[in-house]
Amino acid sequence: MGSGLVLAIETSCDETAVAVADLDGNPFISRISSQIALHAPYGGVVPELASRNHNADLRPLIESTLADAGLTPADIGVVAATSGPGLASSLLVGNTTAKAIAVGLGCPFYSINHMEGHLLSPFIGRGRPIEKHVALIVSGGHTLLIEFSGIGKYRRLGSTKDDAAGEAFDKVGKMLDLPYPGGPEIAKVASTGRNDAFDFPRSMIQSGDFDFSFSGLKTSALHAIERAGESLEGSVLADFCASFQEAIVDVLVSKLLQAAEATGLKIVTVSGGVSCNQRLRQRIAEACGSRGLDLVLADPAYSTDNAAMIAFAAAARLRAGISSSSLHEDIDPNLKLA
Ligand code: KG4
Ligand code: ZN
Repeated sequence: MGSGLVLAIETSCDETAVAVADLDGNPFISRISSQIALHAPYGGVVPELASRNHNADLRPLIESTLADAGLTPADIGVVAATSGPGLASSLLVGNTTAKAIAVGLGCPFYSINHMEGHLLSPFIGRGRPIEKHVALIVSGGHTLLIEFSGIGKYRRLGSTKDDAAGEAFDKVGKMLDLPYPGGPEIAKVASTGRNDAFDFPRSMIQSGDFDFSFSGLKTSALHAIERAGESLEGSVLADFCASFQEAIVDVLVSKLLQAAEATGLKIVTVSGGVSCNQRLRQRIAEACGSRGLDLVLADPAYSTDNAAMIAFAAAARLRAGISSSSLHEDIDPNLKLA
């Protein structure tokens, strides 16, 4: 066994990602080979294309990641991979490869829940302990509010009843004929728009629980697009995108604050691809600042899918005394965090 660095592989969806971290989870190197351009012509991820490209890209990516960090396989002491949730055929490529490397090197193998990676990602490189907190995870597939009381001790406060926040961005981006994925594209167009120009619903904002619903917003956006017709360009399009983004941000900020108040927790975190959204970051920072809440935002480099967060979660599990995973453990496309 080598000196004990963690090698992590993430292939749950359309990013092939490899990272190496130390046992405190500090990333040494984090590499992502994005398939976005490959799937863009289809307006969404094509599962078979994704898995075949993971299969072609993963080995060279592992080799170049180690070489660029000046490492050899002998430096690796722990191997980790995402085991779910995600696309079955994509998960299998990274998971099986990681198990094979673990066998070859005689290292322990950690099977990691992709959502645990997102959950803990705000703490990567922060040099602070992971204390009790409320976490908002907003990605393309999930919108989750979690109460964190320790590694592996997660309570679900709420989640989306239908579309995830990122999914709503992406679907409306598609309706607007914007490039895939729609989230960053809508955010770009929104930057010059007025966020109160269009009236969009804030579903469930006062529902008294911590669940979300974005499908009504999506339908409302579709009707607005139909009504606007040809006028939906230039400043009108910017107003539309800013108003749509604000509706999502309003709900996310409000629910996170309600969850912090209900649990009495003073630390809040935000992670997942949608946490790259500048308007969301700004609104959450303002809201937390005025309430004396300690906000830990995921670094944008670790917000969208990456393997540094998988290495970080594996290192956290190891330090918490949680034993490694069986090599017989299957992947689970529907794996739950809590
Ligand atoms: O966490 P992630 O990379 O993948 C999943 O696990 O789903 O999140 C991807 C999602 C996509 O829906 C994408 O549109 C969204 O994150 N996203 C954004 C922004 N950047 C990425 N949504 C809104 N604004 C952004 N700036
Ligand atoms: Zn993700």
